[in-house]
Amino acid sequence: MSKLPLERILQGQGFGTRKACRRLIEAGEVAIDGATVRDQHAVFETSGLEFEVFGEQWRYRSHVYLALHKPANFECSRKPSHHPGVLSLLPEQFAWRDVQPVGRLDHDTTGLLLMSDDGAFIHAQSSPKRHLPKVYVATTHDAVTPALVDLLLAGVQMHDEPAPLAALSCRQIAAHQLEIVLEQGKYHQVKRMLAAAGNHCSALCRTAIGGLALAELGLAEGEWCYLDEAQQALLAPSGV
Ligand code: URA
Repeated sequence: MSKLPLERILQGQGFGTRKACRRLIEAGEVAIDGATVRDQHAVFETSGLEFEVFGEQWRYRSHVYLALHKPANFECSRKPSHHPGVLSLLPEQFAWRDVQPVGRLDHDTTGLLLMSDDGAFIHAQSSPKRHLPKVYVATTHDAVTPALVDLLLAGVQMHDEPAPLAALSCRQIAAHQLEIVLEQGKYHQVKRMLAAAGNHCSALCRTAIGGLALAELGLAEGEWCYLDEAQQALLAPSGV
């Protein structure tokens, strides 16, 4: 439980600088329990607090945990150079509260991307020690063969890697498509593994992280949602 003045609540929730939040309040744009609050010093209990800004309903969240269905041609980098950044797909409040992608997908990769402003969560999820399976559907240039699947399961040697890397599981799902599950998150790993196995990845979609499946979130490309506690639990190694 913590009580905070309204201007600090709004600032922490990503509504701009303290000065900007004060202006919002003074302009009568902020309401709590249906009543406009014009006093920036008015103190509210943050736990469970619902508030409106410009008529839009928000719930106080000490941290946000999001899933985004990333479309192609968006970059995960904080300073995107060739394409818009994934943050541009979210309300601007999330950039103000320093929401970041958890790990990265290539600009042309689509699918499930986690985002959060909780540094401990980002760190834990990104740790190479986490061993959380990530599921990808890869479209291949050449037809998928049983030999390709066997090779990816046995392990392929990629440049700059000390030892061969193997898929946790791999299965053909169409003539030119396979589902591959990895527990490492090396740079361009799926594309490099397919190249090392003599094929070429022409499209890639991440369909699940741990027990959290994109299909169950019901997000169209470009859409995002908050993850509730049960969904976050699916991201723990034991939640798989
Ligand atoms: N592997 C890749 O090659 N690219 C991604 O974006 C994710 C995994």
